[in-house]
Amino acid sequence: MALNKELIDKIITITSRAAISCHKFLGKNDKINADKAATDTMRNEINKLEINGKVVIGEGELDEAPMLYIGEKLGTGGNLDIDIAVDPVEGTNFVAKNLPGALSVIAFAEKGNLFNAPETYMDKLAVSNKVPNDATDLDFPLEKNIKNLADSLNKDISDITACLLNRPRHNAIIKTLKEMNVKMKLISDGDVSGALMVTNDKYNVDIFLGIGGGPEGVLAASAIDAYGCKFQGRFLFNNDKDILRAKQMGIKDLKKKYELKEIIKGDSIFCATGITSGDLVKGINIKDKTYMTQSLVTHKSSNMCKIVIREDTIKT
Ligand code: FBP
Repeated sequence: MALNKELIDKIITITSRAAISCHKFLGKNDKINADKAATDTMRNEINKLEINGKVVIGEGELDEAPMLYIGEKLGTGGNLDIDIAVDPVEGTNFVAKNLPGALSVIAFAEKGNLFNAPETYMDKLAVSNKVPNDATDLDFPLEKNIKNLADSLNKDISDITACLLNRPRHNAIIKTLKEMNVKMKLISDGDVSGALMVTNDKYNVDIFLGIGGGPEGVLAASAIDAYGCKFQGRFLFNNDKDILRAKQMGIKDLKKKYELKEIIKGDSIFCATGITSGDLVKGINIKDKTYMTQSLVTHKSSNMCKIVIREDTIKT
């Protein structure tokens, strides 16, 4: 069953309003309250929808409320059973420090079609739909992925751009990429956006790789699916608590490499609204008490991937 297109408009309202509500915390060096404002608004807005919604990718556990927690039921009820992935503020540091790239992000899929992921890290790889499926793999050595990528795209290795989070855990990858003379786009945060850079030539990114948040990986995968690009992810469980939680969530093989189709199935809607301007969308612009928002929206079944500009006069 396809998700009704009317839902798209409502989902844009959810992330737009979540983005607007945390805008007042821009540059206030207060990521907790910025996140709380966006979370509260996101919850209120989803609760207006006539759906049986359940958060499968959220910001914590029940005891960590008021975050939108995994398992939380949302919506007024009805016949539409929806699994929801949320990241009310993707890039809380960006909002706190008034830096580019903060987004409010959500994804909807039919019940059972969105991976039920624990809050842990994920090793990720994403490439564009121009690259043959067998050219890159999370299990290939980095050198092989880069060489195959360059061959597939008919580019010199020195013209390949790899995007990854700038983290000490990536020092070995960064060293190899440097030795291979690959261009890097080293992002300080925001790897949903980083992964989506492979979806369009205009971003000049050929491969996204490295370790970031698992929930962010699932969210990125839902948009990447609509673009027909490749995404693979492997959750990383670093401590007993994570391992126990994963087992409770039904994950049997803790080292499993997940293909896109195992993370997101069927129809889905993804929406990311800019809080501050970044690569994907512009941030909130206020004119005469009216908020202008830009959102990147994808809808798998209608092959829709577009930017939507909205005006809202909501009081925050
Ligand atoms: P928050 O907005 O929740 O702070 O996440 C930002 C982020 O950069 C994500 O995009 C990324 O997946 C994750 O943090 C990486 O985690 P870490 O900062 O621990 O490397």
